[in-house]
Amino acid sequence: MRSRRDFLSAGVAMGVLAATYKGAALPTSSKSCSADCSITELNQRIARRDFRGITKDMLPTPCMVVDLDLLNANVNHLADTAKTNGIHVRPHVKVHKSVEVAKRQMTAGAIGLTCSTIAEAELFSDAGIKGMLWTKQPVGRNNTQRAIALSKKDPTFMFVSDDAQVVDWVEEAAAAHNAKARILVSVYAGLARQGMEAGKPAVDLAKRIASSRHMQFEGFMAYSGNAAHVKGFEARRKASMEVLAGVRESKALALEAGLPVNIMTGGSTGTYNIDHATGLSELQAATYVFMDTAYFTIGGQDGDMKRYNDFQPALTVMTTVDSQYHPNLISTDYGAKAMAKSTDIVKGMPWLQVGNGGAEYGAFMWKDGEQHPKLGDRVEIYPTSLDMSTNAFDRYYVAQGDRIVDVWPIMGRSGAAQR
Ligand SMILES: Cc1ncc(COP(=O)(O)O)c(C=O)c1O
Repeated sequence: MRSRRDFLSAGVAMGVLAATYKGAALPTSSKSCSADCSITELNQRIARRDFRGITKDMLPTPCMVVDLDLLNANVNHLADTAKTNGIHVRPHVKVHKSVEVAKRQMTAGAIGLTCSTIAEAELFSDAGIKGMLWTKQPVGRNNTQRAIALSKKDPTFMFVSDDAQVVDWVEEAAAAHNAKARILVSVYAGLARQGMEAGKPAVDLAKRIASSRHMQFEGFMAYSGNAAHVKGFEARRKASMEVLAGVRESKALALEAGLPVNIMTGGSTGTYNIDHATGLSELQAATYVFMDTAYFTIGGQDGDMKRYNDFQPALTVMTTVDSQYHPNLISTDYGAKAMAKSTDIVKGMPWLQVGNGGAEYGAFMWKDGEQHPKLGDRVEIYPTSLDMSTNAFDRYYVAQGDRIVDVWPIMGRSGAAQR
């Protein structure tokens, strides 16, 4: 027989629960599902875009829910601030991968979109959006050919490079297809994953691009992801100023050499109201549309260190509480496949600890005396890392209060070439 201690630790670790069935109460707080919320009818209604009467409690879980009013407020706040500060916005799509969200960003004044894969650039370009900037360089035949094909099809498409070898490959491919590739030089800004040495080396590459027949030099990119999450507005401002010194120097040298520098791009949600002073001409902010818990406590210009109040959390993953056998722990369907993380935060009950018990199993844990959900409850969770989470789902259920008012597909769900 298992001791009480074994039983508890099994629960905390969320291993296979082999406990004796002790009789579960029927769900009390979730509404019973009638014919009009069967999954078949729900899908038919979505296909017909008939959302009348669909409420959050009818949705299959785990699922992503977007609060439309908060999303709109976030999009407008960044757009308005950027306008006031005189900086363009070319938002990064990596966190939402949604044409509907992108259209809202464009309507609010964005001059294009930034993307992390050639597939994202193709998909958004096919959706009619101009001014796609791909923030990686094409390497290998597949990526190079796609970058050149898109450059031909859509002359507003641009991408970056930090390597003379890649620039030569691009020139060769562009020449073969009589295309013109628009290229920015990516300069190191604190992330080891990308970006060449600023100053003379970066300007030498810019000159190589500018002097070629099939490429056009557009400017510089310097993305400082670390600076974006520095806690405290003043510390973040200082970190951003320092880490972007190299790209400012590169621009000055390029101008001295007679090269036009049309674009200075970088920036993020954490630095959206800082980067107009760091030398950037446009912002690549992404997370601000929905927000994730990695940003919740970076502290804003208002001095509130407990919360970053500039943008509101507009996206949750909704889960169903589906099993209860252990003290201070209840199981959910929000597991590893839904990207559950211990740093996620439960909406309305931030004291709950989120546990991950396997592919389709999650948990909420609490201390004695703390309020907690019951079997059958629907609970919403703020995810930690948006781009990872949206990658695990195929649609957003768009809500106003409890009502579902729209359903938006998440792009790139059908195979590697689409991601
Ligand atoms: C190249 C690049 N630009 C911009 C962003 C957007 O940053 P954030 O989501 O912090 O706004 C990211 C995010 O990872 C990125 O990789």
